[in-house]
Amino acid sequence: MTKTMKNIDSFGHLRGESLFVDDIITKQNTLFGLVFDSSCAHGKISKIDYSQAEDIEGVIRIFTYKDIPGVNQIGGIIPDEPLWAEKEVHFAGQPIAFIVAKSELIAKKARALIQVEFRDLPVITSAKEAKEKNSFINAPRSFNLGNTKSSFSECEYVFEGETFSNGQEHLYLETQGCYAYPMENGNIKIISSTQGPTQVQKAAAKVLDLPMHKIEVEVIRLGGGFGGKEDQATAWAIMAAIAVQHLRKPVKFVLNRHDDLRMTGKRHPYESSYKIGLTKELKIKAFEAEFLQNSGAAADLSPAIAERTLFHATNCYYIPNVRTTVYSCKTNLPPNTAFRGFGGPQGMFVIESAISKAANELGINKRFIQEANLIGENEEYYYGQIASNVEAKNSWVTARKEFDLDTLENDVADFNEKNDRYKKGISIMPIAFGISFTNTPMNHARALVHIYQDGSVGLSTGAVEMGQSVNTKMLQIAADTLGIEPKYIKLETTNTTRVANTSPSAASSTADLNGKAVLKACKSLNDRLVKIAANLLNVNEKSLSFQTNFVFIDNKKTKHTWQEIVAKAMMERVALTENAHYATPEIHFDKTKEKGHPFAYHVYGTSITTITLDCLQGTYEIDSVKIVHDFGKSMNMGIDTGQVEGALVQGIGWMTMEEISYDEKGKLLSNALSTYKIPDIFSVPKKIEIIPLETEGNKMAIYRSKAVGEPPLMYGIGTYFAIQNAIASFNKEYKLAFNSPYTPEKVLMSLYENHI
Ligand code: MOS
Repeated sequence: MTKTMKNIDSFGHLRGESLFVDDIITKQNTLFGLVFDSSCAHGKISKIDYSQAEDIEGVIRIFTYKDIPGVNQIGGIIPDEPLWAEKEVHFAGQPIAFIVAKSELIAKKARALIQVEFRDLPVITSAKEAKEKNSFINAPRSFNLGNTKSSFSECEYVFEGETFSNGQEHLYLETQGCYAYPMENGNIKIISSTQGPTQVQKAAAKVLDLPMHKIEVEVIRLGGGFGGKEDQATAWAIMAAIAVQHLRKPVKFVLNRHDDLRMTGKRHPYESSYKIGLTKELKIKAFEAEFLQNSGAAADLSPAIAERTLFHATNCYYIPNVRTTVYSCKTNLPPNTAFRGFGGPQGMFVIESAISKAANELGINKRFIQEANLIGENEEYYYGQIASNVEAKNSWVTARKEFDLDTLENDVADFNEKNDRYKKGISIMPIAFGISFTNTPMNHARALVHIYQDGSVGLSTGAVEMGQSVNTKMLQIAADTLGIEPKYIKLETTNTTRVANTSPSAASSTADLNGKAVLKACKSLNDRLVKIAANLLNVNEKSLSFQTNFVFIDNKKTKHTWQEIVAKAMMERVALTENAHYATPEIHFDKTKEKGHPFAYHVYGTSITTITLDCLQGTYEIDSVKIVHDFGKSMNMGIDTGQVEGALVQGIGWMTMEEISYDEKGKLLSNALSTYKIPDIFSVPKKIEIIPLETEGNKMAIYRSKAVGEPPLMYGIGTYFAIQNAIASFNKEYKLAFNSPYTPEKVLMSLYENHI
């Protein structure tokens, strides 16, 4: 009934009325925060003098690590990250102090007057260099299936190579920020732009040396997160909270774009190497990969992201002998962090590169290798999960047929025959993405539903709305389950006082986890009210239901309303509030063996990308991306289509134009939108076609509507190989490059490489 609902925020967004942190009407005497950060990527602080800055009129106080009542530590997985640097700095952009002033402008003036001197230490910016110097975040991890050593010798063809995929800036429209203020009895409220309110609460409690219940974290909505606010919204919130703790005044702290770009981590760059072995029939018999993850100066979420790289290292292929290893390499860059796909895309780029290399060496179309190795029902993912309800072949074959791949390929060949300056390229990109937090204990959520006595409803969950429309989905579930119109339901803010101990909104799992909790809570309330209505009307409970706000008996509408029954329940002193908890069943993973069943299910799909390359300039346009996507049974096609399109374009940006660049001293060069290019309306595909795959969906997905946040990003990888394909038809001497993003500059080099 609610399947065609629009994002409930669309009206507010369009009119500019939706509230973000920076829109909150501030209280009297609100102060403003600004971070003083390190200009040195690695060094000892030999001298620091705040006196001139402190003397400025309007500067209230400058906070440093000395002002921390608890521990100076915000590392979530590994305690290796101070909130504020003490004696040493480990990346340029690392926070050293926090200036609190009467205005942001005053704080900025003060920042310029802080005198600091560093004694430089050696700077590492690349993962390879870190590995050579034994600089790691933690011990490496390896996944293993079969025996690669012995099986390579049985392969007809063996190829090896190296790949690089660069980082990616999240570029959420709303920068990081928070607004914190004192409550009575030493309690503090923090309104934060975070994907993980509980993470902020927990870390703040530790740093401020307070029990968690004294800190209330609230999230209204985010202007985009993409993983960048899963862990990295925390530091700013704590800084403001410390200032509140000391000053007992409200403190607002919203990073400006330059500070945000410089101080926050990004998608992890990966330097990887692979070895692939095939049989005569093009079956991949053995695959090895070594991933060097550039983790930055602290762990952040790197170990979890490294793990997901391993999970997705074989993409949607069944390979009987696999060995993969990932090293989280410690460098002097800002700690890199979650970004849509969470290490999965980096893993998938490598196997697709390996297949591309093999095809090129064998002089065949890459898709024959891909097609010959798609995972089938009951085959084993190399981490032990047996594939079930697999849609890899189904989505592949559907894409090939529905989009008439043969004709598309012939058109490309025809075009290339007739044209010299322009060449077209085509690629096909199948994906499989596992749904669940790979850290099993994180897969649970709660919902709290109040029915007020007038029949209106307030719905709280642990889900954070960040533009992905999760609130709309939550509302759909509540409206359908209670049998009332959406207008009677209000989505409350995400607040740790109402819904506690939440996992971050991440891993594509937010709608599944929170949605199942909403379903459970609303079902209990519905049962309760049905009983009351049945009693009142003297009919069998089984024949009675609520639909569109009315009582129905045997599916026939009566004149009795939902409001009437709620009022009656109130008179009968029946609880109109319900709290429900959902934890994903069946999943498990044994890290001592690196085997298990970590995912509730997988999302599958196949995209076909066609591009046109200008071989004089190295520039290219994406003609079309045609996708067959496994939505399961989509609960809202409009929203889900938006997610596929958005993720695709973000993936294309990562693969083609978004080029993070640091100099050898660890200073960010791509520090503005003039030097960091993301896709705009002129660079997105001229045509995106999406066909939903006809499937039963999966019972572990809410309403059998599969998670959709991250998987489609990896369709963007197809663009890289379509460009490669076009270059190869222009330059017969081209040795395939696997070095993303494939910017026009790099494309131009490839076009004329070894070319006389
Ligand atoms: Mo997301 S990259 O799991 O925050």
